[in-house]
Amino acid sequence: MTTITQIQPLDVPSAIVQRRSIKTFKSDPIAPELLKQLVELTVAAPSSFNVQSWRIVLVQDEAQRAALAAASWNQKQIVQAPVTFVFAADATAGEQDLTPILEKAQETGAWNEATVGYFKNAVPQFQAGLGDKRREYAIKDAIIAATHLVLAAESLGLSTCFMNGWIEDQVKAVIGATDNPDLAIAVLVPVGYAAEPRLNPGRLPYDYNVFVDNINNPYQG
Ligand SMILES: Cc1cc2nc3c(=O)[nH]c(=O)nc-3n(C[C@H](O)[C@H](O)[C@H](O)COP(=O)(O)O)c2cc1C
Repeated sequence: MTTITQIQPLDVPSAIVQRRSIKTFKSDPIAPELLKQLVELTVAAPSSFNVQSWRIVLVQDEAQRAALAAASWNQKQIVQAPVTFVFAADATAGEQDLTPILEKAQETGAWNEATVGYFKNAVPQFQAGLGDKRREYAIKDAIIAATHLVLAAESLGLSTCFMNGWIEDQVKAVIGATDNPDLAIAVLVPVGYAAEPRLNPGRLPYDYNVFVDNINNPYQG
């Protein structure tokens, strides 16, 4: 079994290029220290006002994995992989008590008293102004964290698959969040050791979807 001590982490460009969405995983467990490192690198992601509105559930228990797979059109990655990260997003995070966030930033010296004073009012105001977009904004934070996880996992010798194929209410039931209407499911990411390689399906030429200055001016590379 691969352990954290045996791994020479891949650099970021190499991890980006090497990463594939893996559909078949070995049942090998992830060493607890390695899983902890993944969690650390995941929550190192940036978020709007540093509110960290992601709510991440590590689904590891066999029965829980089976239930989560059933909520995900029986996609087998979730049963096979030793852990699936469920990235949920709390649309009300910016309205909750911000004290732990503000105190931490003051403790590290990143935010001075004036910044903290500003954020105390600005964050709830911004949040209130979002209205119906609160959910969308929280999901952005969660997806950015999921991207950190995927690249960190690749760098550390693991494989992943971003997953959109699930039924939100059913996933919420599995993680015990049925009663929370403000919790959205952003994405699921099984993590483990790949059982088989996958080829890169390739990408469109840049001039399809990359532009310079104006959406009508394709980037030629
Ligand atoms: C947001 C998102 C959702 C996806 N959902 C699924 C999924 O439910 N099941 C699956 O097998 N692959 C899923 N994929 C994987 C894509 O099919 C895959 O990323 C794409 O074909 C490109 O392949 P690559 O990731 O190996 O570059 C998803 C990818 C993304 C980014």
